[in-house]
Amino acid sequence: MQRQILLLAACCIGLSTAVAADKVGPAPNGITLPAGYKDWRVISVSHRTDNNTMRVILGNDVAIAAAREGRINPWPNGAILGKVVWKSDKDKHWEKAVVPGNLVHAEFMTKDSKKYASTGGWGYARWLGLDQKPYGKDANFANECVACHTPVKGQDWVYTRPARFP
Ligand code: HEC
Repeated sequence: MQRQILLLAACCIGLSTAVAADKVGPAPNGITLPAGYKDWRVISVSHRTDNNTMRVILGNDVAIAAAREGRINPWPNGAILGKVVWKSDKDKHWEKAVVPGNLVHAEFMTKDSKKYASTGGWGYARWLGLDQKPYGKDANFANECVACHTPVKGQDWVYTRPARFP
């Protein structure tokens, strides 16, 4: 009995610290936070040395299948790529180990070649920090994303090359 109460308390504390996905507002271009993205599978990881951040690149089922089968130029409609970014930190027990610190943002590219034709076939959206505040003043924020992804226009606007698995 006591154990059940403890479990219940732990569950409620867990719920109160995380913002439920359905309470998170949409991006200014109307894109909503993909439900369940925290359970998506890994496409790759990356580490930016210019701003000391580490990232995991995740995909929904359509993106994972495409990544594993090498169907990535173009990526199929329905694919969503997610990137979660943390500040790099040192492991306090092993200083040469780089580990994730504070969460910076989670951002997504949703492939729909018709709906998002004006931004290269991808819908862009970003949510900041643990409280997942939608990024951007108005829908034009996506121009910033497109501009920075232009060097990889030739690989369907995507930087990430799927990491090799055995
Ligand atoms: C300053 C340049 C820059 C801007 C601005 C930018 N990106 Fe990126 N983005 C990158 C780079 C470089 C990578 C690949 C390296 C990495 O993993 O961070 C990337 C990777 C991504 C990925 C993983 C898929 C891929 O292309 O590798 C997503 C998703 C993404 N960006 C979304 C966005 C969204 C959404 C915006 C706008 C809100 C945005 N980006 C703005 C430079 C940028």
